[in-house]
Amino acid sequence: MENRSLITISEAGSHVGESVTIGCWLTRRRSSGKIQFLQLRDGTGFIQGVLVKEEVPEETWEAAGSLTQESSLYVTGTVRRDERSQSGYELSVTGLSIIQLTRDYPITPKEHGVDFLMDHRHLWLRAPRQRAVMRIRARIISAIQEFFDERGFTLVDPPILTPSSAEGTTELFHIRYFDEDAYLTQSGQLYMEAAAMALGKVYSFGPTFRAEKSKTRRHLIEFWMIEPEMAFVDHEENLRVQEQFVSHVVGRVLEHCRPELETLGRDVAALERIKPPFPRITYDEAIRMLAELGMELPWGEDFGAPHESALAEKFDRPLFITHYPTAIKAFYMKPDPSRPEVVLCADMIAPEGYGEIIGGSQRIDDPELLRQRFDEHRLSDEAYQWYMDLRRYGSVPHSGFGLGLERTVAWICGLEHVRETIAFPRMLYRLYP
Ligand code: 4AD
Ligand code: MG
Repeated sequence: MENRSLITISEAGSHVGESVTIGCWLTRRRSSGKIQFLQLRDGTGFIQGVLVKEEVPEETWEAAGSLTQESSLYVTGTVRRDERSQSGYELSVTGLSIIQLTRDYPITPKEHGVDFLMDHRHLWLRAPRQRAVMRIRARIISAIQEFFDERGFTLVDPPILTPSSAEGTTELFHIRYFDEDAYLTQSGQLYMEAAAMALGKVYSFGPTFRAEKSKTRRHLIEFWMIEPEMAFVDHEENLRVQEQFVSHVVGRVLEHCRPELETLGRDVAALERIKPPFPRITYDEAIRMLAELGMELPWGEDFGAPHESALAEKFDRPLFITHYPTAIKAFYMKPDPSRPEVVLCADMIAPEGYGEIIGGSQRIDDPELLRQRFDEHRLSDEAYQWYMDLRRYGSVPHSGFGLGLERTVAWICGLEHVRETIAFPRMLYRLYP
């Protein structure tokens, strides 16, 4: 077994009939007395190793028999096609060399509670379902970048340490920045507006932080956001970009991640319906629909998760809710010129009860109105001088939006909770591991 040249399990298909060695972990072992079956994983895939007592040296047989869950080892064997197995191949084992025999692996095949699994997130990640989610997340990220890169957007990275808020001051993470106060970014949007004035079409992709005391299945304290911003783009075009964007991402996952979706038991037909155009209703229509459903809400109130779910249930694609009341939306949103009590904005609500995945709007381009909003929202002129400059020096109509990565992953994977959508979730009262 010295001088071995390793292949990965994912490469087994191109080595049928050959003797190969893989580095792997044992997930499970079964024995029928004369045959041992080893369930092996190496991160790239899963394969079953089969040992026949009469065909391997005594010591190899014994070594296999000593293997415990999550022991690490090198396995040598011949790759055979096997229609019955998930990978399509199995390994006729001829030799193995143990790297480490694991004792008392905490996560056993029995059921564990969520808190226990979260405490062992660093190990839980090895489970096939968790692996599938991470693979789909990575594919979603590359599909996002592909979409914008191919359409002439430039990737720009906004700062993570900021002197002021972008989305309301109650959910800021405060930190010391030498002698100044600073905050972890809640959104890169304001900086992306500056970047759009320099580069036309831009997008950011980075972590954002919200000290929200919300313990729901949709909220993380640290989450990743994609924030495109486009000069000379109005509300209508903003929505068209969004529906094409989300359809592209779902399409790429369907194209590349079938085995992972199968591992998760995801209803693929629901994803195959995700094509533009997406249905649109106004906030006013939403209020009327909710009343018909017996969920009366006074005009001017924001929707909660149950309202969003009830509305989304009526559609088989993501739903745009547009023209929310000005008073409940962010200071930078442009009022509808024909009805200034509502703004040119939209939230995109994912189907199947996954809630809001995108928030976006056309931005205020008029310097006078923006100044007025600063006063109304009690934002310090000083901190936002630079943002005002964007309206002083060649202001143009512009729009953008932010897609929450983890909620999107939860929806596409069909996960009940966002805690499984990121390797190490930061949640209310959970900072470990
Ligand atoms: O709707 P939000 O707050 O919009 C903004 O931050 C804008 N500045 C975006 C923009 O126009 N550039 O957040 C955008 C999205 C939400 O739709 C949601 O998907 C996600 O970010 N999000 C969260 N995801 C997980 N945990 C949280 N606590 C989240 N808060 C928002
Ligand atoms: Mg929002």
